[in-house]
Amino acid sequence: MNKALRNRNDVTSIGVVGLGLMGCSIATCLLIAGHKVIAVAPIPADLLLAKKRITAHLKRSFKEKLVKKLPGHYLKNLLITEDYTALKDCRLVIECTIENMDIKKSVYKKIEDVISPDALMTSNTSAIPISLLQEQTTRPGRFFGLHWAEPSHTTRFLEIICGNKSDIKKGEYLYKLSHNWGKEPTLVRKDIRGFITNRIMYAAYREAISLVENGYATIEDVDRACRNNAGYWMTLVGVFRWMDLTGVPAYHTVMKDLFPTLNNGTKVPKLIDDIVKKGGRGVANAHGFYKYTAEEAKLWEETFTDFSYDIRALALKYPENIVKKKIEARKKLKAKKSI
Ligand SMILES: NC(=O)c1ccc[n+]([C@@H]2O[C@H](COP(=O)([O-])OP(=O)(O)OC[C@H]3O[C@@H](n4cnc5c(N)ncnc54)[C@H](O)[C@@H]3O)[C@@H](O)[C@H]2O)c1
Repeated sequence: MNKALRNRNDVTSIGVVGLGLMGCSIATCLLIAGHKVIAVAPIPADLLLAKKRITAHLKRSFKEKLVKKLPGHYLKNLLITEDYTALKDCRLVIECTIENMDIKKSVYKKIEDVISPDALMTSNTSAIPISLLQEQTTRPGRFFGLHWAEPSHTTRFLEIICGNKSDIKKGEYLYKLSHNWGKEPTLVRKDIRGFITNRIMYAAYREAISLVENGYATIEDVDRACRNNAGYWMTLVGVFRWMDLTGVPAYHTVMKDLFPTLNNGTKVPKLIDDIVKKGGRGVANAHGFYKYTAEEAKLWEETFTDFSYDIRALALKYPENIVKKKIEARKKLKAKKSI
């Protein structure tokens, strides 16, 4: 591993290219973690919006006590520009442009023209295979998927995905580094389309749509069931711990009979196809699976933001190693008592 990549202080400058919804929250997360952020917004409209969005994230983070200092302190480390050459000294660049292979390819060329040969490059792609993306670059060994969850400055999720040609040592380095960003990261050592969570969630989206399309339940009923089942335990545990907690043999029995009945379709379902063909984007334009007034759509956005901060506080109270911590605390108490 290149010496310059060994510790966080050496990775002071991080580039973010594409300042839409996610680019802004990723930039916020990195600023909070103490990095200098060179944010490239190649689309002029983003240039104007991005600073407002990032400032709003930082303001709210201060209000929620996620950070100790006022936005100005972090904004000093932010440069927003249209100019790719500003990325020159970045040790790591995170591409966060729209999910379009041709656009991503042209962006990689512009990034590679300016960064040093040993700097790392990553993409926040949702589902384009990393092995495909890295083939669009001149140095595939330094290329990884870095898959964040919105809003990136509050969520603990991060998948670091290796493509077929990625250097695993560099992937391990990113895994370590991302702990400094407040993440509980996952290293996906072998490339697979959709990575981990999208594979799991898209299986759930397909089944949910199928239940509605086939008249078993309404959209509202499916959503309510999800909220109050998976929605209640998933911040504490993942699916495997959940099966452990609730009894493995029952799952074994159910799988045998249920799996053959699950939807296994390979086409995009009509329910979502119709919405998209009519221009529906969801809450963003008040037209999705549900109908919204403009006021309702805005309130849903605000409610999601409120919830992101609340759930983060709860997740921090129950970290992944909570039981290990409890055991250590007990040992300490025992040792104290025996003195
Ligand atoms: N939204 C999510 O929850 C989410 C979650 C995980 C991953 N992702 C992925 O992150 C990436 C960005 O998603 P987003 O939700 O921020 O989308 P977005 O539409 O909000 O932002 C995309 C940005 O790309 C920019 N862009 C468009 N054409 C460009 C070009 N030619 N060159 C450079 N930039 C260009 C747009 O101006 C925009 O700012 C996508 O690959 C998406 O799949 C999104």
